[in-house]
Amino acid sequence: MANGLDDVVAADTVLSDVDGAGGHLTIRGHSLMELAGRWRYAQVVRLLFDGFFDDLPSDAELEKAIGNARVEVFDRVQPMLAQLAPLDIYSGMRAGMAVLPDGDGLADALRLIAAPAVLTPALLRLGRGETPVAPDEKADHAGDMLRMLSGAASPALAKALDSYLVTVCDHGLNASTFATRVVASTQAGLTSAILAGLGALKGPLHGGAPGPVIEMLDAIEASGDATAWLRKEIAHGERIMGFGHRIYRVRDPRADALKAVVRQLGSRSETGSRLAFAETVEQAALEVLRIAKPQRSIQINVEFYTALLLEAVGFPKEAFSNVFAAGRVAGWIAHAREQQATGRLIRPQSHYVGPVPDLVA
Ligand code: ACO
Repeated sequence: MANGLDDVVAADTVLSDVDGAGGHLTIRGHSLMELAGRWRYAQVVRLLFDGFFDDLPSDAELEKAIGNARVEVFDRVQPMLAQLAPLDIYSGMRAGMAVLPDGDGLADALRLIAAPAVLTPALLRLGRGETPVAPDEKADHAGDMLRMLSGAASPALAKALDSYLVTVCDHGLNASTFATRVVASTQAGLTSAILAGLGALKGPLHGGAPGPVIEMLDAIEASGDATAWLRKEIAHGERIMGFGHRIYRVRDPRADALKAVVRQLGSRSETGSRLAFAETVEQAALEVLRIAKPQRSIQINVEFYTALLLEAVGFPKEAFSNVFAAGRVAGWIAHAREQQATGRLIRPQSHYVGPVPDLVA
Protein backbone atom coordinates (compact mmCIF):
# COMPACT_ATOMS: atom_id res chain seq x y z
CA MET A 1 0.00 0.00 0.00
CA ALA A 2 1.49 3.34 -1.09
CA ASN A 3 -0.89 5.68 0.74
CA GLY A 4 1.45 7.13 3.36
CA LEU A 5 4.69 7.27 1.30
CA ASP A 6 6.44 5.63 4.30
CA ASP A 7 10.22 5.43 3.79
CA VAL A 8 10.02 7.16 0.38
CA VAL A 9 12.85 9.68 -0.10
CA ALA A 10 11.43 12.57 -2.15
CA ALA A 11 14.09 15.29 -1.83
CA ASP A 12 17.76 15.94 -1.19
CA THR A 13 18.07 18.69 1.40
CA VAL A 14 20.77 20.59 3.25
CA LEU A 15 18.20 21.94 5.72
CA SER A 16 17.42 19.33 8.37
CA ASP A 17 17.73 15.66 9.21
CA VAL A 18 15.43 13.66 11.45
CA ASP A 19 17.04 10.55 12.95
CA GLY A 20 14.02 8.57 14.07
CA ALA A 21 15.94 5.66 15.57
CA GLY A 22 18.41 7.78 17.54
CA GLY A 23 16.00 10.61 18.41
CA HIS A 24 18.18 13.38 16.98
CA LEU A 25 17.27 16.45 14.94
CA THR A 26 19.99 18.23 12.96
CA ILE A 27 19.37 21.67 11.45
CA ARG A 28 22.04 22.73 8.94
CA GLY A 29 24.79 20.98 10.85
CA HIS A 30 23.62 22.00 14.34
CA SER A 31 21.88 19.67 16.77
CA LEU A 32 18.55 20.87 18.11
CA MET A 33 20.03 20.89 21.63
CA GLU A 34 22.70 23.33 20.44
CA LEU A 35 20.07 25.72 19.02
CA ALA A 36 17.09 25.45 21.40
CA GLY A 37 17.29 27.99 24.21
CA ARG A 38 20.57 29.42 22.86
CA TRP A 39 19.91 30.84 19.40
CA ARG A 40 17.34 33.51 18.71
CA TYR A 41 14.67 32.93 16.09
CA ALA A 42 16.11 35.57 13.73
CA GLN A 43 19.48 33.77 13.84
CA VAL A 44 17.82 30.50 12.92
CA VAL A 45 15.93 32.18 10.08
CA ARG A 46 19.29 33.37 8.77
CA LEU A 47 20.78 29.89 9.16
CA LEU A 48 17.92 28.37 7.16
CA PHE A 49 17.89 31.11 4.50
CA ASP A 50 21.65 31.12 3.92
CA GLY A 51 22.38 30.39 0.27
CA PHE A 52 18.74 30.69 -0.77
CA PHE A 53 18.60 34.49 -1.00
CA ASP A 54 21.31 36.71 -2.56
CA ASP A 55 20.83 39.74 -0.34
CA LEU A 56 20.80 38.13 3.13
CA PRO A 57 22.01 40.65 5.77
CA SER A 58 23.70 40.03 9.14
CA ASP A 59 21.73 38.59 12.10
CA ALA A 60 21.13 42.02 13.64
CA GLU A 61 20.02 43.53 10.33
CA LEU A 62 17.78 40.56 9.64
CA GLU A 63 16.12 41.00 13.04
CA LYS A 64 15.45 44.65 12.10
CA ALA A 65 14.18 43.66 8.66
CA ILE A 66 11.74 41.17 10.25
CA GLY A 67 10.55 44.00 12.52
CA ASN A 68 9.98 46.25 9.50
CA ALA A 69 8.12 43.40 7.79
CA ARG A 70 5.81 43.08 10.83
CA VAL A 71 4.91 46.76 10.47
CA GLU A 72 4.39 46.42 6.71
CA VAL A 73 2.17 43.35 7.09
CA PHE A 74 0.13 45.02 9.85
CA ASP A 75 -0.50 48.05 7.61
CA ARG A 76 -1.48 45.80 4.72
CA VAL A 77 -3.89 43.56 6.62
CA GLN A 78 -5.38 46.12 9.00
CA PRO A 79 -8.23 47.16 6.64
CA MET A 80 -9.42 43.53 6.34
CA LEU A 81 -9.02 42.39 9.96
CA ALA A 82 -12.70 42.93 10.82
CA GLN A 83 -13.69 40.59 7.96
CA LEU A 84 -11.16 37.92 9.02
CA ALA A 85 -12.03 38.02 12.73
CA PRO A 86 -15.28 35.96 12.51
CA LEU A 87 -13.38 33.04 10.89
CA ASP A 88 -11.69 30.46 13.09
CA ILE A 89 -8.32 31.86 14.10
CA TYR A 90 -6.31 29.57 11.80
CA SER A 91 -8.45 30.27 8.72
CA GLY A 92 -8.34 33.99 9.50
CA MET A 93 -4.55 33.92 9.61
CA ARG A 94 -4.34 31.90 6.39
CA ALA A 95 -6.75 34.23 4.57
CA GLY A 96 -4.71 37.24 5.71
CA MET A 97 -1.52 35.63 4.42
CA ALA A 98 -3.15 34.82 1.07
CA VAL A 99 -3.19 38.51 0.10
CA LEU A 100 0.59 38.89 0.39
CA PRO A 101 2.53 39.30 -2.90
CA ASP A 102 3.51 35.93 -4.42
CA GLY A 103 7.17 36.61 -5.20
CA ASP A 104 10.42 34.76 -4.49
CA GLY A 105 12.61 37.50 -3.01
CA LEU A 106 13.81 38.14 0.54
CA ALA A 107 11.16 40.85 1.08
CA ASP A 108 8.46 38.29 0.17
CA ALA A 109 10.01 35.77 2.56
CA LEU A 110 10.21 38.25 5.44
CA ARG A 111 6.57 39.27 5.01
CA LEU A 112 5.64 35.58 5.28
CA ILE A 113 7.79 35.22 8.44
CA ALA A 114 6.11 38.30 9.93
CA ALA A 115 2.52 37.51 8.95
CA PRO A 116 1.53 34.74 11.44
CA ALA A 117 3.14 36.72 14.26
CA VAL A 118 1.10 39.82 13.34
CA LEU A 119 -2.22 38.26 12.33
CA THR A 120 -2.59 35.85 15.26
CA PRO A 121 -2.51 38.41 18.10
CA ALA A 122 -4.56 40.93 16.09
CA LEU A 123 -7.32 38.38 15.38
CA LEU A 124 -7.28 37.10 18.96
CA ARG A 125 -7.68 40.63 20.29
CA LEU A 126 -10.54 41.39 17.88
CA GLY A 127 -12.20 38.13 18.96
CA ARG A 128 -12.04 39.39 22.58
CA GLY A 129 -13.54 42.72 21.55
CA GLU A 130 -10.20 44.54 21.91
CA THR A 131 -8.35 46.80 19.47
CA PRO A 132 -5.31 45.24 17.75
CA VAL A 133 -1.93 46.48 18.99
CA ALA A 134 0.44 47.65 16.23
CA PRO A 135 3.88 45.98 16.00
CA ASP A 136 7.02 47.62 17.35
CA GLU A 137 9.68 47.18 14.67
CA LYS A 138 12.46 47.51 17.24
CA ALA A 139 11.26 44.67 19.47
CA ASP A 140 12.43 41.09 19.08
CA HIS A 141 10.07 38.88 17.10
CA ALA A 142 8.72 36.66 19.91
CA GLY A 143 8.54 39.50 22.42
CA ASP A 144 6.62 41.65 19.97
CA MET A 145 4.20 38.82 19.26
CA LEU A 146 3.38 38.62 23.00
CA ARG A 147 3.20 42.41 23.28
CA MET A 148 0.73 42.53 20.39
CA LEU A 149 -1.28 39.82 22.19
CA SER A 150 -1.49 41.28 25.68
CA GLY A 151 0.05 44.74 25.56
CA ALA A 152 3.24 43.70 27.40
CA ALA A 153 5.76 40.87 27.30
CA SER A 154 7.88 39.69 30.21
CA PRO A 155 11.43 38.84 29.08
CA ALA A 156 11.04 35.31 30.48
CA LEU A 157 7.88 34.60 28.47
CA ALA A 158 9.38 36.19 25.34
CA LYS A 159 12.46 33.97 25.68
CA ALA A 160 10.25 30.89 26.15
CA LEU A 161 8.27 31.70 23.01
CA ASP A 162 11.47 32.41 21.08
CA SER A 163 12.82 28.97 22.14
CA TYR A 164 9.60 27.40 20.90
CA LEU A 165 9.85 29.12 17.48
CA VAL A 166 13.46 27.91 17.18
CA THR A 167 12.55 24.35 18.23
CA VAL A 168 9.89 23.95 15.53
CA CYS A 169 11.61 25.92 12.72
CA ASP A 170 12.24 22.88 10.52
CA HIS A 171 11.80 19.12 10.64
CA GLY A 172 12.68 17.15 7.54
CA LEU A 173 10.05 16.27 4.96
CA ASN A 174 6.99 16.37 7.23
CA ALA A 175 3.53 16.61 5.62
CA SER A 176 3.37 20.41 5.51
CA THR A 177 6.95 20.79 4.24
CA PHE A 178 6.26 18.23 1.53
CA ALA A 179 3.07 20.09 0.53
CA THR A 180 5.11 23.31 0.40
CA ARG A 181 7.76 21.70 -1.80
CA VAL A 182 5.16 20.23 -4.18
CA VAL A 183 3.73 23.70 -4.85
CA ALA A 184 7.20 25.30 -5.04
CA SER A 185 8.21 22.67 -7.60
CA THR A 186 5.69 24.18 -10.04
CA GLN A 187 7.67 27.47 -9.72
CA ALA A 188 4.69 29.13 -8.06
CA GLY A 189 5.69 31.94 -5.68
CA LEU A 190 6.47 31.66 -1.98
CA THR A 191 3.01 32.73 -0.80
CA SER A 192 1.37 29.96 -2.84
CA ALA A 193 3.83 27.41 -1.47
CA ILE A 194 3.39 28.56 2.14
CA LEU A 195 -0.41 28.45 1.82
CA ALA A 196 -0.07 24.77 0.89
CA GLY A 197 2.05 24.19 3.99
CA LEU A 198 -0.53 26.01 6.12
CA GLY A 199 -3.29 23.78 4.79
CA ALA A 200 -1.38 20.62 5.63
CA LEU A 201 -0.33 21.82 9.08
CA LYS A 202 -3.90 22.41 10.22
CA GLY A 203 -4.97 18.77 10.59
CA PRO A 204 -4.92 17.02 13.99
CA LEU A 205 -2.51 14.33 12.74
CA HIS A 206 0.07 17.08 12.17
CA GLY A 207 0.10 20.63 13.59
CA GLY A 208 -3.46 20.61 14.86
CA ALA A 209 -2.62 18.31 17.81
CA PRO A 210 -1.58 20.72 20.61
CA GLY A 211 -5.02 22.30 21.12
CA PRO A 212 -6.56 18.83 21.67
CA VAL A 213 -3.69 18.05 24.11
CA ILE A 214 -5.08 20.77 26.42
CA GLU A 215 -8.60 19.36 26.03
CA MET A 216 -7.23 15.92 26.92
CA LEU A 217 -5.38 17.20 30.00
CA ASP A 218 -8.51 19.02 31.19
CA ALA A 219 -10.70 15.95 30.63
CA ILE A 220 -8.22 13.71 32.46
CA GLU A 221 -8.02 16.15 35.37
CA ALA A 222 -11.81 16.18 35.60
CA SER A 223 -11.98 12.38 35.45
CA GLY A 224 -9.45 11.96 38.28
CA ASP A 225 -7.96 8.77 36.78
CA ALA A 226 -5.50 9.20 33.90
CA THR A 227 -4.95 5.51 33.19
CA ALA A 228 -8.67 4.67 33.08
CA TRP A 229 -9.40 7.68 30.84
CA LEU A 230 -6.59 6.84 28.43
CA ARG A 231 -7.52 3.13 28.30
CA LYS A 232 -11.10 4.05 27.44
CA GLU A 233 -9.96 6.32 24.61
CA ILE A 234 -7.80 3.59 23.11
CA ALA A 235 -10.63 1.06 23.50
CA HIS A 236 -12.83 3.42 21.46
CA GLY A 237 -10.16 3.57 18.72
CA GLU A 238 -9.15 7.15 19.57
CA ARG A 239 -5.57 8.43 19.30
CA ILE A 240 -3.78 9.98 22.23
CA MET A 241 -2.82 13.47 21.14
CA GLY A 242 0.85 14.37 21.51
CA PHE A 243 2.01 10.77 21.13
CA GLY A 244 3.22 8.79 18.11
CA HIS A 245 5.24 9.82 15.10
CA ARG A 246 5.87 8.52 11.61
CA ILE A 247 9.66 8.77 11.94
CA TYR A 248 10.57 8.71 15.66
CA ARG A 249 10.60 5.33 17.35
CA VAL A 250 12.14 6.92 20.45
CA ARG A 251 11.30 10.20 22.22
CA ASP A 252 10.97 13.20 19.92
CA PRO A 253 13.94 15.38 20.99
CA ARG A 254 11.80 18.50 20.63
CA ALA A 255 9.54 17.27 23.44
CA ASP A 256 12.43 17.36 25.90
CA ALA A 257 13.69 20.72 24.61
CA LEU A 258 10.22 22.23 25.19
CA LYS A 259 9.71 20.49 28.53
CA ALA A 260 12.95 22.11 29.75
CA VAL A 261 11.60 25.54 28.76
CA VAL A 262 8.30 24.90 30.56
CA ARG A 263 10.23 23.71 33.64
CA GLN A 264 12.14 27.01 33.74
CA LEU A 265 8.88 28.97 33.56
CA GLY A 266 7.26 26.67 36.08
CA SER A 267 9.72 27.44 38.85
CA ARG A 268 7.91 30.75 39.37
CA SER A 269 4.25 30.18 38.60
CA GLU A 270 1.22 27.90 38.42
CA THR A 271 2.83 26.43 35.29
CA GLY A 272 4.78 24.24 37.72
CA SER A 273 1.71 22.36 38.96
CA ARG A 274 0.39 22.06 35.37
CA LEU A 275 3.76 20.57 34.38
CA ALA A 276 3.75 18.11 37.28
CA PHE A 277 0.26 16.96 36.27
CA ALA A 278 1.26 16.68 32.58
CA GLU A 279 4.24 14.54 33.56
CA THR A 280 1.98 12.07 35.36
CA VAL A 281 -0.28 11.95 32.27
CA GLU A 282 2.78 11.42 30.06
CA GLN A 283 3.88 8.42 32.13
CA ALA A 284 0.35 6.97 32.20
CA ALA A 285 -0.04 7.42 28.42
CA LEU A 286 3.31 5.79 27.63
CA GLU A 287 2.32 2.79 29.77
CA VAL A 288 -1.19 2.50 28.31
CA LEU A 289 0.19 2.76 24.74
CA ARG A 290 2.95 0.22 25.48
CA ILE A 291 0.35 -2.32 26.56
CA ALA A 292 -2.30 -1.46 23.93
CA LYS A 293 0.08 -1.29 20.92
CA PRO A 294 2.94 -3.66 21.74
CA GLN A 295 3.80 -3.98 18.03
CA ARG A 296 4.73 -0.28 17.73
CA SER A 297 6.94 1.99 19.84
CA ILE A 298 4.67 4.99 20.44
CA GLN A 299 6.52 7.78 22.24
CA ILE A 300 5.86 11.40 23.10
CA ASN A 301 6.01 13.92 20.23
CA VAL A 302 6.58 17.68 20.02
CA GLU A 303 2.93 18.59 20.48
CA PHE A 304 2.48 17.47 24.11
CA TYR A 305 4.82 20.04 25.67
CA THR A 306 4.06 22.56 22.92
CA ALA A 307 0.60 22.73 24.45
CA LEU A 308 1.97 23.45 27.93
CA LEU A 309 4.47 26.03 26.70
CA LEU A 310 2.01 27.98 24.57
CA GLU A 311 -0.57 27.92 27.37
CA ALA A 312 2.06 29.21 29.80
CA VAL A 313 3.05 32.15 27.57
CA GLY A 314 -0.60 33.17 27.21
CA PHE A 315 -2.00 31.82 23.93
CA PRO A 316 -5.46 30.23 23.97
CA LYS A 317 -5.57 26.65 22.65
CA GLU A 318 -7.40 27.58 19.45
CA ALA A 319 -4.34 29.60 18.38
CA PHE A 320 -1.67 26.95 19.05
CA SER A 321 -1.45 25.85 15.40
CA ASN A 322 -1.04 29.49 14.36
CA VAL A 323 2.00 29.79 16.62
CA PHE A 324 3.36 26.52 15.24
CA ALA A 325 3.05 28.06 11.76
CA ALA A 326 4.85 31.20 13.01
CA GLY A 327 7.89 29.04 13.76
CA ARG A 328 7.71 26.52 10.89
CA VAL A 329 7.25 29.17 8.18
CA ALA A 330 11.04 29.71 8.15
CA GLY A 331 11.65 26.05 7.29
CA TRP A 332 8.89 26.05 4.67
CA ILE A 333 10.40 29.07 2.90
CA ALA A 334 13.89 27.55 2.84
CA HIS A 335 12.50 24.24 1.51
CA ALA A 336 10.47 26.07 -1.14
CA ARG A 337 13.60 27.89 -2.33
CA GLU A 338 15.62 24.68 -2.27
CA GLN A 339 12.96 22.89 -4.33
CA GLN A 340 12.62 25.78 -6.81
CA ALA A 341 16.40 25.67 -7.33
CA THR A 342 16.24 22.05 -8.50
CA GLY A 343 13.98 23.16 -11.38
CA ARG A 344 12.29 19.78 -11.12
CA LEU A 345 8.50 19.37 -10.95
CA ILE A 346 7.31 16.92 -8.25
CA ARG A 347 4.93 14.62 -10.07
CA PRO A 348 4.63 11.08 -8.73
CA GLN A 349 2.34 8.40 -10.11
CA SER A 350 -0.68 6.65 -8.68
CA HIS A 351 -1.50 2.98 -8.96
CA TYR A 352 -4.95 2.65 -10.54
CA VAL A 353 -7.10 0.13 -8.64
CA GLY A 354 -10.54 1.24 -9.97
CA PRO A 355 -12.82 -0.50 -12.47
CA VAL A 356 -11.63 -0.88 -16.04
CA PRO A 357 -13.89 0.25 -18.92
CA ASP A 358 -15.74 -2.39 -20.94
CA LEU A 359 -13.87 -2.81 -24.19
CA VAL A 360 -16.22 -2.32 -27.12
CA ALA A 361 -15.63 -5.07 -29.64
N1 ACO B 1 -2.61 6.99 20.02
C1 ACO B 1 -3.07 5.75 19.86
N2 ACO B 1 -2.65 4.91 18.90
C2 ACO B 1 -1.71 5.40 18.07
C3 ACO B 1 -1.19 6.69 18.18
C4 ACO B 1 -1.68 7.49 19.21
N3 ACO B 1 -1.23 8.74 19.39
N4 ACO B 1 -0.26 6.88 17.21
C5 ACO B 1 -0.22 5.75 16.49
N5 ACO B 1 -1.10 4.84 17.01
C6 ACO B 1 -1.33 3.48 16.57
C7 ACO B 1 -2.36 3.44 15.45
O1 ACO B 1 -3.68 3.41 15.97
C8 ACO B 1 -1.97 2.17 14.76
O2 ACO B 1 -2.45 1.07 15.52
P1 ACO B 1 -2.97 -0.27 14.81
O3 ACO B 1 -1.75 -0.81 14.11
O4 ACO B 1 -3.45 -1.10 15.94
O5 ACO B 1 -4.04 0.16 13.87
C9 ACO B 1 -0.44 2.18 14.86
O6 ACO B 1 -0.13 2.98 16.01
C10 ACO B 1 0.23 2.78 13.65
O7 ACO B 1 -0.48 3.94 13.28
P2 ACO B 1 -0.09 4.83 12.03
O8 ACO B 1 -1.15 5.84 11.79
O9 ACO B 1 0.31 3.95 10.88
O10 ACO B 1 1.21 5.51 12.58
P3 ACO B 1 1.92 6.74 12.00
O11 ACO B 1 3.32 6.58 12.38
O12 ACO B 1 1.62 6.97 10.59
O13 ACO B 1 1.20 7.92 12.83
C11 ACO B 1 0.72 9.99 13.72
C12 ACO B 1 1.80 9.11 13.10
C13 ACO B 1 -0.31 10.33 12.63
C14 ACO B 1 1.36 11.27 14.21
C15 ACO B 1 0.03 9.25 14.87
O14 ACO B 1 0.99 8.82 15.80
C16 ACO B 1 -1.06 10.07 15.55
O15 ACO B 1 -2.17 10.12 15.06
N6 ACO B 1 -0.74 10.73 16.71
C17 ACO B 1 -1.71 11.53 17.41
C18 ACO B 1 -1.79 12.94 16.79
C19 ACO B 1 -0.54 13.75 17.03
O16 ACO B 1 -0.01 13.80 18.11
N7 ACO B 1 -0.11 14.43 15.96
C20 ACO B 1 1.09 15.26 15.98
C21 ACO B 1 2.26 14.57 15.36
S1 ACO B 1 3.75 15.49 15.47
C22 ACO B 1 3.63 16.63 14.25
O17 ACO B 1 3.09 16.38 13.21
C23 ACO B 1 4.16 17.99 14.46
